[in-house]
Amino acid sequence: MTPPRGSAPQRRDSRRQPDRSREPDRNRDPDRNREPARAALTIVILAAGQGKRMRSDLPKVLQPLAGRPLLQHVIDTARSLDPASIHVVYGHGGEQVREALKSEPVSWVRQSEQLGTGHALQQVAPRLADDDRVLVLYGDVPLTRSSTLRQLLERAREDALALLTVMLDEPTGYGRIVRDSRGRVRRIVEQRDASKRELALRECSTGVMVAPARSLKRWLARLKNDNAQREYYLTDVIAMAVAERMAVEPLVAPSATEVLGVNDKAQLAEVEAAYRLRQATELMLAGVTVIDPARLDVRGTVEAGRDVVLDVNVILEGRVKLGDRVRIGPGCIVRDCEIGSDTEVFAHCVIDRALIGRACRIGPFARFRPSSSLDEGVHIGNFVEVKNTRIGAQSKANHLTYLGDAVIGTAVNVGAGTVTCNYDGANKWQTHIGDGAFIGSGSMLVAPVSIGAGATIGAGSTITSDAPERQLTLGRAKQMSVPGWQRPKKRQP
Ligand code: UD1
Ligand code: CA
Repeated sequence: MTPPRGSAPQRRDSRRQPDRSREPDRNRDPDRNREPARAALTIVILAAGQGKRMRSDLPKVLQPLAGRPLLQHVIDTARSLDPASIHVVYGHGGEQVREALKSEPVSWVRQSEQLGTGHALQQVAPRLADDDRVLVLYGDVPLTRSSTLRQLLERAREDALALLTVMLDEPTGYGRIVRDSRGRVRRIVEQRDASKRELALRECSTGVMVAPARSLKRWLARLKNDNAQREYYLTDVIAMAVAERMAVEPLVAPSATEVLGVNDKAQLAEVEAAYRLRQATELMLAGVTVIDPARLDVRGTVEAGRDVVLDVNVILEGRVKLGDRVRIGPGCIVRDCEIGSDTEVFAHCVIDRALIGRACRIGPFARFRPSSSLDEGVHIGNFVEVKNTRIGAQSKANHLTYLGDAVIGTAVNVGAGTVTCNYDGANKWQTHIGDGAFIGSGSMLVAPVSIGAGATIGAGSTITSDAPERQLTLGRAKQMSVPGWQRPKKRQP
């Protein structure tokens, strides 16, 4: 069998050492040297398929990958290519899809009946300007890298169609790429229409292609559905291009992962695993120690300093920034946080929207609800909940405490079981605790209330009015003992 002509996967070290032999090629990149008006890039994302095999009430393209809809990932990739426009073909019952992604800068095109990928693209055809370059993507193929698509775009010309293919050991279900004896792509044959010989081919169609709009519109208008599935196949345009002697430039995807499609929950998990590994690898190459890359989930963007360590089963969500030598223990969820250098988060903490200073110690089993900030050297220990609270440097709340809507100074010690009673059933109130205050264990601070700097609150106090600076304040029933008291005895039946 003739080896495919598509480029081999790029070696990793080519990133570090620019490959001079590629430079003249880069100058041909239409985005660089040509006036953009001549070949504006239009991206079409096909997302009208029903996704029956998901067996879910949620449309397939809204199924979450790393916490965001599949289609969102594809739209993000499309946007990274800076196209003139993005069209999303959505289907019957797809109003939910439009609603979920309504803030995206895309135009929505309805395909009311799903008569095939070619038919889907036909719905967009009237909106395509003849001079456009059209890149076709799929709403259920979320892991294609922008760099791969850029390579594909480089191969497309006014007189050449570029086609992303993939080598698969298990090609069942995919359209096969049929090449001639000289290795030129001739056509794509779908699984259900393929002969035995064709079924043995391992090079498959990803469906992703770039074509000049003028030709594409002509081909789409001529598609027929005389095939096993009675569908209008987009993939049939390849043979039409060949018949018109237009060049078909294949690019073999660097990895099968990039073109994995999601049709059922098993494939969804497969894609999630691939995404997980990709994110973890990125962090590791940036110097982060990841104890087990299969047990780290990055569902957002992470910026990490030097010698950061992430233990197993950590989930990082949203925007997370970690300073140098930050350590996150096992089982932690960190969402939209900034954590300063040398801070250690012990096992099983949930930290949501907090700004944590340098050299803090958090957990195990601590919970931050949104909007808290900690200065340097703060300790928040086990079973402590912190919400909308500012805590000054070197302060400590080491055990079993609720700090909500509080402003806490520096070097404060909050004893075990302290509660800021911030809610009166209707409104939330603030608690202020001055620098160097000591709150005895089991204290209820009934807000609004202020504890002066250097004040000591006796253990077990219920504090309902402000406590002055540097004094001992107690608010508890006086202890008494009853001499001669006898325990009651069990009654005889
Ligand atoms: C398609 C390709 C096949 C390729 C495979 C790669 C065709 C005919 N076949 O097959 O060569 O190997 O992708 O994954 O193109 N869609 C619509 N409207 C429709 C039908 C589909 O928008 O009427 C959308 C789907 O939402 C999906 C995409 O097009 O995002 C692909 O459709 P699907 O039915 O999954 O095609 P495959 O059979 O996988
Ligand atoms: Ca598919």
